Amino acid sequence: MKNKLLIYALAVTAVCLFSFFVFFDGCAPNKGEVFKTAQIGDSEFEPAKWGEVFPLQYESWLKTKEPRPKDKSFYKRGWDTDKIVWDKLSEYPFMALLFNGWGFGIEYNEPRGHYYMMIDQREIDQSRTKAGGVCLTCKSPYIGKMVREYGRDLFKMPYADAVNKIPAEHRDLGAACIDCHDNKSMDPRVTRWTINEGLKAIKKEKPTRQEMRSIVCAQCHVTYCIPKDEKMQSTGVFFPWQGSSWGNISIENIIKVLLSSPSHREWKQTVTGFKLAYIRHPEFEFYTNQSPHFKAGISCADCHMPYKRVGSFKISDHNLMSPLKDELRACANCHPQSTERLLSRVKTIQDRTMSLLIRSGYASATVAKLFELTHAEQAKGRQINGALYEKAKSFYEEALYRVIFIGAENSIGFHNPDEAGRILGDAVAYASKSEAFLRQALSQAGVQVPESINLELSRYLNGRGAHKLNFRPSQEFKDPYGTQDRLLPRSARGI
Ligand code: HEC
Ligand code: HEC
Ligand code: HEC
Ligand code: HEC
Repeated sequence: MKNKLLIYALAVTAVCLFSFFVFFDGCAPNKGEVFKTAQIGDSEFEPAKWGEVFPLQYESWLKTKEPRPKDKSFYKRGWDTDKIVWDKLSEYPFMALLFNGWGFGIEYNEPRGHYYMMIDQREIDQSRTKAGGVCLTCKSPYIGKMVREYGRDLFKMPYADAVNKIPAEHRDLGAACIDCHDNKSMDPRVTRWTINEGLKAIKKEKPTRQEMRSIVCAQCHVTYCIPKDEKMQSTGVFFPWQGSSWGNISIENIIKVLLSSPSHREWKQTVTGFKLAYIRHPEFEFYTNQSPHFKAGISCADCHMPYKRVGSFKISDHNLMSPLKDELRACANCHPQSTERLLSRVKTIQDRTMSLLIRSGYASATVAKLFELTHAEQAKGRQINGALYEKAKSFYEEALYRVIFIGAENSIGFHNPDEAGRILGDAVAYASKSEAFLRQALSQAGVQVPESINLELSRYLNGRGAHKLNFRPSQEFKDPYGTQDRLLPRSARGI
């Protein structure tokens, strides 16, 4: 009797396993192979040591060092086989105008592989790491240990001094095994205080394993705020998610948090003289705000770390990159459509987003120049209607943060197509309203405002320093002022 039951149980298990592999192989986020029980120390930072236990994942992790194919992605050129790092300011000149006044207006590049995160941060123009040791928060795996050792002083410590506190052999080490894995179980885990506080703010307790496959990325692929004291020194770093919830961290809520304290205003925009807040790479917030894929329960790792076969093993691909540069392999796990059809869907979504981004970017840049004009007139003693001015300023900020949000989000709309349209549509509307208020105020004050505003883009783009010229073969920028060219996405101009 016992034996019969056992045989029956075995048979059922076999059938279950068989159907599992037939029907779900490759699509469901089933667990990859774990070869050995891990013998990895609790504070083992060295990936090669983890690699002794998990050589295949280690090898694929090392591949983030390789340049990416250069003609596969429409907009995300990153670090290509010509070894060019693509510069966002040359690509989107309105950003050079808007960000003039701090590091992002001097050097701002497309991302490349994880291998380079510390290297790029150490090599970038030093204006970008002026905030200090706080910049290491989402780059070095040592950050938690360092904050415990040096306290909050680490945040405002000069960047180079903070880097010197990292053990010499690991100063170039970026996202490491220890950042995403529990050393005993190999389960995905996070350790940084920023994400832990963030998850608390959105009341996310006990995430599922599938959710963890996105949350590990949300340690870094999120926006953050570095509050400043009166001396403009960094006092910490947090994710502006207060008042939001899991699956709904909206741009509106983020702006609300950023505007809730003057200490969140991290920089001064040269053109307008305004002290402003800022938004960085909000992949997690944007994707999880009810995108079609998020609603279907899909995680970042499903698209950026698809399973791949290595010999007789199946592993999660640790060579994270754009799925476009990887033959859309991840998409094919779930979508039966041809690669051409999927690619054309991606292109349509991205072209639409880009068109709106460029439109709203130049609309905001135009308003910034009108503020410059207004301030020049005020300096000459001209009286400007205060109520109209304040309305224009508030609408300008609303437009600008939306432009920065989508401009910094790395999928050009793909992660959440409708949301990109909604955000940028609002940005265009806010910028147009702001322009109308300012024009009204200026004309009330008797100022003749030209119909078309010269943005003087070449002034902001050229002469950013010799270092930057390495990034593009022809960096010298010719201002397209007076032509409509700049309103079209690059692909439409055949560049
Ligand atoms: C410790 C911080 C950190 C974590 C964790 C992290 N990333 Fe990144 N990621 C970065 C940084 C920084 C860059 C840009 C590196 C550079 O340009 O030097 C980057 C770049 C990328 C790129 C572009 C790669 C290329 O070859 O162009 C992709 C795609 C990416 N990350 C996806 C993810 C996904 C998906 C996850 C979660 C599974 C994740 N990242 C986890 C910080 C992180
Ligand atoms: C449904 C699939 C899918 C999901 C889910 C997804 N992505 Fe992406 N991701 C893409 C595509 C497609 C692109 C656009 C790549 C391009 O244009 O080359 C992209 C672009 C990116 C890039 C820029 C890559 C580059 O080469 O510059 C990063 C970084 C990134 N995603 C991170 C994330 C993070 C973090 C998550 C989860 C919060 C996520 N992605 C979820 C498909 C996905
Ligand atoms: C950016 C985050 C990240 C980093 C860094 C990272 N992993 Fe992973 N790893 C993941 C995710 C996500 C999974 C999938 C986990 C799941 O599905 O439960 C995974 C899965 C694994 C697995 C389970 C088997 C498999 O292939 O799915 C092993 C083993 C593993 N990683 C080893 C490593 C090693 C060794 C390193 C360092 C060389 C490393 N990982 C670095 C995110 C990361
Ligand atoms: C884990 C499975 C899975 C993966 C991987 C995946 N998708 Fe999807 N995709 C879905 C599902 C399920 C839907 C339907 C969502 C809905 O309509 O509610 C969908 C919807 C879509 C849509 C229509 C919705 C929209 O956003 O316009 C497009 C286009 C799409 N996927 C493209 C891609 C591309 C390109 C990739 C690879 C970068 C990809 N998908 C990866 C499962 C997946």
